[in-house]
Amino acid sequence: MKVSIIGSGYVGSVTAACFAELGHEVICIDIDEERVRQLNDGYPPVWEEGLEGLMNKHVGKRLIATSDYDYAVQNSDISFICVGTPSSDNGEIDLSIVAAASKSLGESIASKNAYHTVVVKSTVIPGTTENVVRSILEDYSGRKAGDTLGLAMNPEFLREGRAVHDFLNPDKIVVGSLDRRSDSLVSDLYRDIDCEVTSVNIRTAEMIKYVNNAFLATKISFANEVGNICKRLDIDTYQVMDAVGRDFRINPAFLNSGAGFGGSCFPKDVRALIGSAKDMDYYPSLLESVIEVNELQPLQMVEILEDKLPQIKDKRIAVLGLAFKNDTDDIRESRSIPVIRKLLEKGAAIHAYDPLASDNMKKIFPDITYTSSAQEALEGAQACLLMTEWDEFRKLNTEFDSMDRKLLIDGRYLLDAEELEDVEYEGLCW
Ligand code: UDX
Repeated sequence: MKVSIIGSGYVGSVTAACFAELGHEVICIDIDEERVRQLNDGYPPVWEEGLEGLMNKHVGKRLIATSDYDYAVQNSDISFICVGTPSSDNGEIDLSIVAAASKSLGESIASKNAYHTVVVKSTVIPGTTENVVRSILEDYSGRKAGDTLGLAMNPEFLREGRAVHDFLNPDKIVVGSLDRRSDSLVSDLYRDIDCEVTSVNIRTAEMIKYVNNAFLATKISFANEVGNICKRLDIDTYQVMDAVGRDFRINPAFLNSGAGFGGSCFPKDVRALIGSAKDMDYYPSLLESVIEVNELQPLQMVEILEDKLPQIKDKRIAVLGLAFKNDTDDIRESRSIPVIRKLLEKGAAIHAYDPLASDNMKKIFPDITYTSSAQEALEGAQACLLMTEWDEFRKLNTEFDSMDRKLLIDGRYLLDAEELEDVEYEGLCW
């Protein structure tokens, strides 16, 4: 089949490369000429495991990029909108990029003489595809949706860093559509993947994405709340959750307590769902608590620190881990941000290390010291805060010897206190 993909961020580029891998002819559309050039030269716009390999295999053959909407629409049957939906300053999702892509698509569809389906893959609040995207497309194409203009919504459930694997090995494929033809066209794109397609209406597809993320975020905040109680009872919450997760109704995934969740999806999506509920005069108290627990969680690390080291002004503190999770340089909503902010307010001298994310963090905190190894960050420090679940931190041991005071606050259950000699170990919630 012939597909065009608008937007080449992590969702768009992975979707494009994976559809090419599934045998489809793919055209990426991006308004950034430099990015189009890079894509056509085979360079992935984001780092994702396996993406470069797929691009090398398909670029110039089944995968090309252009900034020309008309060309892409004329030469494809389906267009996917995979652009960003950032949070506006007031916390609502900013639909301006989705709207701009819909307008350009509509204009190009106007001059095409055949049926064309538009599929929203960007995460949008229920109602957006039908109310916003549909009306812009209809206005600019002069067509009526459901007739010669197909409309569908096909959410993604891709983890950053694992997106190619998740795309090709999904545990669900959700297609929400307005018309039958769109449903079968989109479902057909995935026919070589061994996974049942769940066909629903557009609003339901939009909601499934939010509920999926909100549920996972809820699991994490639940595990964190349990962890906070366990710590006060001197119980290892990981042993508790390990046993609880064996219940098939609960499942063991996403029950790791620690500094909380970050990233481009969970915090933004839960907040957007809360916002849309409130707009309809419903107060979602459980979801509000999920966010509240997540906000308080990293700050408890500073409280533990102050308990042990009452005067932190001018004290050297090592912060290990800046990325929102391991294996990425992404710092969006990273739990290390509120921790660093709080430590700075209290006058600490921060020496931070992350294997990939320091350059990104420099844009937020240009004045703290960034080191090129964990060892360097630890030298002469009065305390160390472990913020991200990087594998290399699990091996730390003798590196703590160079600290002035061997005080370690582990925010991710990475190290075993019994294996560390003379280290004052404090788990965040265990
Ligand atoms: C998430 C969803 O998993 C994915 O399906 C969706 O499409 C996008 O959002 P991602 O943001 O890449 O993916 O991160 P994920 O691996 O899910 O982790 C999110 C955050 O939760 C990280 O900060 C991680 O440290 C934290 N986390 C995860 C926990 O604190 N405990 C856990 O048990 C699991």
